[in-house]
Amino acid sequence: MDKFIIQKSCRLKGRVRVSGAKNSCLALMAASLLTDEPLELNNVPNLVDVRTMTRVLENMGVGISRSEPGKLSLDSSRAEGLKAPYDLVRKMRASYYVLGPLTARKGKAEVSLPGGCAIGQRPIDLHLKGLSMLGAEISTSGGYIYVRADRLNGARINLTGQSGSSVGATVNVLMAATLARGVTVLEGAAAEPEIVDLAWMLKAMGAKVEGAGTDVITIEGVASLGGASHTVIPDRIETGTFAVAAAITGGDVVIADCCPEHVQSVTDLLENLGVKIEKARKTLLVRAGGEMPAFELCTAPYPGFPTDMQAQFCALATQAEGTSVIEENIFEHRTLHVSELARFGADIKVSGRKIIVRGPTPLSSAPVMASDLRASAALVLAALVADGSSEIHRIYHLDRGYEHLEVKLARLGVKIMRVST
Ligand code: UD1
Repeated sequence: MDKFIIQKSCRLKGRVRVSGAKNSCLALMAASLLTDEPLELNNVPNLVDVRTMTRVLENMGVGISRSEPGKLSLDSSRAEGLKAPYDLVRKMRASYYVLGPLTARKGKAEVSLPGGCAIGQRPIDLHLKGLSMLGAEISTSGGYIYVRADRLNGARINLTGQSGSSVGATVNVLMAATLARGVTVLEGAAAEPEIVDLAWMLKAMGAKVEGAGTDVITIEGVASLGGASHTVIPDRIETGTFAVAAAITGGDVVIADCCPEHVQSVTDLLENLGVKIEKARKTLLVRAGGEMPAFELCTAPYPGFPTDMQAQFCALATQAEGTSVIEENIFEHRTLHVSELARFGADIKVSGRKIIVRGPTPLSSAPVMASDLRASAALVLAALVADGSSEIHRIYHLDRGYEHLEVKLARLGVKIMRVST
């Protein structure tokens, strides 16, 4: 298992290029099951999660080739398989994105129940509610979900859950509805940029979708979909993580090939903390100011502050002046980074849904354990400002979602080494 060894950094300086969005890419890949024609994806990040989705689809008979870096061709014309097995779903929950397309296209799907994960229960009731309202019959047995449908029919479906909209349920039901008979209206739909990206590609494939990016999406079902060539949007969480890396080290970083509009809530908060942000169409310039004041933030569905940036801002709060209060409203147990940040010497504790951080605290190096993808990113950020040399274990979590992280950080001046143990 690999680990990172990271030395305390001076100010990060230079230019970094953002990769394609992992979360978008996983949905776009699953959408290949909706058509017999070839699908070509560009700006595909080279990540463990993308490779896992490749295995899920190949297991069903989808032909997938990576003709050049960043380009993926998917051909579902000979796909017969209907099953996403436990062995793959347990590695990556988003494997269940095959549910919607398989139900719509093949009338059958068998997907292992994803179960809980490091950041909470993560139920899939809204996915199943949506598919069932389109006319699918759903049963569970032996840890698997079985979905059957002779034909799906459009319906008015409210996808609002206890914590607001669901990205995953919106992805699954949107894909299924493209091939349903009649009109489907999704209310309480997620408005994340990844949904807009998916809708954009589905439209290029011949789907009739309106309203993506708002909480009401209308889909008029069509008889079949064709192929398309599509470029994955930039990863907004990677963008935000590099912005925090610049801010926490007092750095000056140009973040290229990103979409500044998608990280507005993150850059707004950084600006409030005195960080200078300059935006161009595809570039963000992040230049740290002086001392940062403490802050409050609450995670919320897009366009609110992303839960996937919460852990990174906990790391930043350790260097801010005063008491910061960070409220997690999406995933109840997304606090695993708290005890690891404390190992660096951070004054941080959990109180209900809130994480309270007192700063600024000089951090000192420590061996720490990554627990989930974004928690791991927070540990890397803390290591950048911790005295000495920190070891971050279990970095396979980072490899799931950050492409060539050590290469990109090294180019910005970080002394970072990957060691295989
Ligand atoms: C996606 C992202 C993840 C991000 C999250 C929230 C992918 C592959 N993952 O995860 O990185 O952190 O959005 O922005 O895109 N819920 C239910 N019932 C359901 C589904 C969800 O109650 O059937 C709840 C969840 O427990 C959570 C909330 O809804 O409290 C939002 O979850 P959701 O948006 O579905 O997250 P994911 O799609 O799993």
